[in-house]
Amino acid sequence: MNIILLGPPGAGKGTQAQRLQSERGMIQLSTGDMLRAAVASGSELGRKAKGIMEKGELVPDELMVGLIEDRIAQPDCLKGFILDGFPRTEAQAEALDRMLDKKGKTLDRVVEMEVDEQALTERIVGRFSCAKCGTGYHDKFKRPKVEGVCDVCGSKEFVRRKDDNAETMKTRMAAYRAQTEPLRPYYARRGVLRKVDGMAAMDEVYRQITGVLSGA
Ligand code: AP5
Repeated sequence: MNIILLGPPGAGKGTQAQRLQSERGMIQLSTGDMLRAAVASGSELGRKAKGIMEKGELVPDELMVGLIEDRIAQPDCLKGFILDGFPRTEAQAEALDRMLDKKGKTLDRVVEMEVDEQALTERIVGRFSCAKCGTGYHDKFKRPKVEGVCDVCGSKEFVRRKDDNAETMKTRMAAYRAQTEPLRPYYARRGVLRKVDGMAAMDEVYRQITGVLSGA
């Protein structure tokens, strides 16, 4: 099964995608993570994306489409994938349709995570993740079980994203409203859009998502 998790910054897409990957074996394809890896490696893509991401704006469509097209062609994606952060514009959604058609793959569900915008900045500024395995945490909502130690890999090093601040969040939200929200009617017309309550506790959000997937 191939799905999209759709929602604004801080909606919980990454949190739920990580859990779907570990419990159901689906592959998380986070364009944000891919771009951050490109920035860290100093590649040409990373050099182009760095300043754009720090401002909270969107990286050009042509760069994003190429990145995803290469990734979904990898053999592990045959197990089913979760698009987390892609598509973010109508041009990306149309390009995704074309690449899935070409590869004989289908898009089974688009899960929209409905959230209260006022809660998102608190989620974003409190977020941190394990520097080694990438597991996500939050100062208030999801602390490691043992303080200062990653639950999954035991590392004691954590990182915070440069774009996780209240100022950049305004630009990220504006980009979401202007360019990504129009994807809701795009996928509703196709009959694949389903909503879950992204304001519920993380376990409940997961329960609702797996409910949507089993009804697919
Ligand atoms: P990206 O990395 O995709 O960031 P984003 O979409 O802004 O989403 P986030 O990762 O911030 O939020 P999330 O929904 O995954 O939330 P999370 O689960 O971590 O993109 C970064 C940048 O890259 C973009 O700004 C852009 O420049 C560029 N980019 C990426 N893709 C692109 C594309 N396709 N086209 C163009 N540019 C692109 O949760 C947040 C926090 O809340 C966590 O700490 C978590 O613990 C907590 N939390 C989660 N769920 C709950 C809950 N139910 N209750 C309480 N707390 C919760």
